Amino acid sequence: MKTEQPQIIRLEDYREPAYLVENVELVFDLESESTRVVCAATYYANNTDNAPLVLDGEDLKLLHISLDGRELGENDYSCDNKSLTIPDLPERFELVIETEIDPKGNTQLSGLYQSNGTYCTQCEAQGFRRITYFQDRPDVMATYNVTIIADKASCPVLLSNGNLLEHNDVEDDQHIAVWHDPFPKPSYLFALVAGDLAQVSDTFVTCTGRTVDLHIFIEHGNEDRVDWAMESLKAAMKWDEDRFGLEYDLDLYNIVAVSDFNMGAMENKSLNVFNTKYVLAKSDTATDADYAGIEGVIAHEYFHNWTGNRVTCRDWFQLSLKEGLTVFRDQEFSSDMRSRPCERISNVKVLRAAQFPEDAGPLAHPVRPEQYMAIDNFYTATVYNKGSEVIRMMHTLLGEDNFRKGMDLYFERHDGQAVTCDDFAAAMMDASDIDLTQFKLWYSQAGTPEVTAHWSYDHEAQRFDLTLAQHLAPTPGQNDKQPMHMPISVGLLDLEGMEILSDVLSVSKARETFSFENIESEPVISLNRDFSAPIKLKAAYSRVELAFLMANDSDDFARWEAAQTYGTDLLLDMVKAYQKGQPFKKDEDFIQALRQTLLNDQLDLDFIALCLQLPTEGYLAEQMETIDVVAIHQAREALRRYIAEDLQKDFLRIFRDLRSDKPYSPNAASCGQRALKNTCLSYLAEGDDPACLALITAQYHNANNMTDRMAALSILSNKEADARLEALEDFYTRFKDDALVVDKWLSVQAMSSLPGTLATVQNLMSHEAFSIRNPNKVRSLIGVFAHANPLHYHNEDGSGYAFHTDRILELDKINPQIAARMVAPLGKWRRFDKKRQDLMKAELQRIIATDGLSGDTFEMASKSLG
Ligand code: PHE
Ligand code: ZN
Repeated sequence: MKTEQPQIIRLEDYREPAYLVENVELVFDLESESTRVVCAATYYANNTDNAPLVLDGEDLKLLHISLDGRELGENDYSCDNKSLTIPDLPERFELVIETEIDPKGNTQLSGLYQSNGTYCTQCEAQGFRRITYFQDRPDVMATYNVTIIADKASCPVLLSNGNLLEHNDVEDDQHIAVWHDPFPKPSYLFALVAGDLAQVSDTFVTCTGRTVDLHIFIEHGNEDRVDWAMESLKAAMKWDEDRFGLEYDLDLYNIVAVSDFNMGAMENKSLNVFNTKYVLAKSDTATDADYAGIEGVIAHEYFHNWTGNRVTCRDWFQLSLKEGLTVFRDQEFSSDMRSRPCERISNVKVLRAAQFPEDAGPLAHPVRPEQYMAIDNFYTATVYNKGSEVIRMMHTLLGEDNFRKGMDLYFERHDGQAVTCDDFAAAMMDASDIDLTQFKLWYSQAGTPEVTAHWSYDHEAQRFDLTLAQHLAPTPGQNDKQPMHMPISVGLLDLEGMEILSDVLSVSKARETFSFENIESEPVISLNRDFSAPIKLKAAYSRVELAFLMANDSDDFARWEAAQTYGTDLLLDMVKAYQKGQPFKKDEDFIQALRQTLLNDQLDLDFIALCLQLPTEGYLAEQMETIDVVAIHQAREALRRYIAEDLQKDFLRIFRDLRSDKPYSPNAASCGQRALKNTCLSYLAEGDDPACLALITAQYHNANNMTDRMAALSILSNKEADARLEALEDFYTRFKDDALVVDKWLSVQAMSSLPGTLATVQNLMSHEAFSIRNPNKVRSLIGVFAHANPLHYHNEDGSGYAFHTDRILELDKINPQIAARMVAPLGKWRRFDKKRQDLMKAELQRIIATDGLSGDTFEMASKSLG
């Protein structure tokens, strides 16, 4: 089978649907390999063109079609593996279509599939067309009635969207459930679940006094792991009422956790389907980061009920309308639930690790893309995380009150509609009277703006001048860029470290000077506080000024940022030294600045831990013209050793002080304690002192929670010591029946910097713990190796690339969405030396030349090649 070049879909070609749908009646007769689906829908013409009706369909067996009660014959329609076309239609008609599908054989996990025997659906973005023929696009909204018929013994639980109308036994050990969702919705929000699941229930009383039943469905045996998800759900429901005045709109909210899932979770109306990773947690199996992830994702899917479901997207180019806004909302929620500065720092870390490189490479696209081949490839850090930054900047420019007015107006205007990013911006503009015309370039121009800052102080005039110049480099398909409108938050500090002034500058020109009057002595400037704009800032700070900001800035983000900038500066110097064969120089001032932070009792412990963590190898790579993974690794390890040497006593004392026998609690304060304690431990491990190794091994064995156990195991996984193998073996023996914990065991090995890691990863592929059909396993082993182990992935012999490419091709036949998502690391080839460039390009060419390649993977590989 020769690969068919997928078609390019363009925003400019958007047309309203030819027909609209009032109500959809679905009947599912569930059988593992041959499920029958009857879809009866009332259609009416949306214009007078008398156009044919074109329905999307994929991998369907068409059994019957009837139009207004008359069975259609083969001459009445045309059909291929993409669509079903019916010409000559009346203005209003009832269409009944019967199809057969194979849930068991559905390895793509899109449409109706089975996960450990449970039937579940995934319809975003285009999975509904794998269930029945339909205009599978978000601007076709209808109410749904869903009847599920299934075997009573193997599927006691039958769920769909909305309210349960009926549940009855029928003959032959079958039963039947009928669901009705009163809210019109696009097909991508349809969901069905059927299986033998356990259930944990609770209730939430809304602000108007309505009681909502909450249920979380999991596989039997996991009942003791859903408390945190349930607490998070209730907290999110309350928060959305308090912050945005948004109340839940049905009496039932169901969450189902499944082990096989392409993404994190899905916001189907009142029937969220989740990856188990974002539901299941108890202290001995989940880390603090897992708890935070669950809280955030549970909230994210809940928030979609208003931003995504009640108001949805007109077309998939508008994906960020729901995703950027909902990420902003979940970030705000997490900031209110835990430390705001730490939340901001971790969001910025994600943005820099995933989005900035995307914006700087061959896959760069605007927050609102203009074209795509496979929409599944556009669930990106740009659409989600940069999209959230765009909303955050509007929030900063408008202020909380105006922003809230804008949200209210958005819902008032568009409830029940499928709309665009422009509609959202219009609501914000109209509610605030703030002109966002130029600002909207953030939706259409790809790339990360570079802002260069220069400043000077005039003693005589007591004036401080700040000049900001912005530059946006060309990205694929966009050569000429216009200046962007962005809020830049600044502060001036006097030499005692007291804040003289703080302000948010509204920057809109290519080059602009801002003057601050009546400044009595030369200040130190703090720039882009709280990361008010998602830019790359170039400012000629001296190291003395950076240390000063680390110690004094009243904005915690900026303090952390000063430490990162200082660390990056040093490390890039060390990289150069390594490349020239020169010895490293130890910078005592940096280490002293870190020590002051470490010992500062005014600061939160989780914040201190973040400040002590050096920029990642990935971040350092992004700062280099030509990436040298070996030099980066050597430099970073050396700096860690220097810090460990000089601060050993402090680390040891703090480590001991923070150890605690108290029972585990996931609250922010205890998370902070563990974060700092484990950061200290990881520095203590640098010395390879046997006493420290004993400390780590002891923590591994005695830990009463997974955060501490995993921290110790991660340290050991980089040690050439018997203790490493012993701990890895012990870990597997303890947790081998727990899929999510086994994922951690795979990742920690895939991340190791020890020689032989690729061979380990290769061997793990045939371990009983691994399955290439399960996306979590693939991400944990292969994804982590390719994304988070630059040292081995980029081995100069090309073995990492070849291994990775073999896996992409293997996966493409099973699950093209997951295969396509793995291509990105190869797309960074331009950033490497000639030898690696050639190796990487050859692998991309090998992918493209493969017969029968999916459209998803073709798009990613061909764009990566450039
Ligand atoms: N819409 C989901 C979310 O962000 C993500 C998702 C996309 C899940 C596509 C499955 C498929 O909440
Ligand atoms: Zn989302």
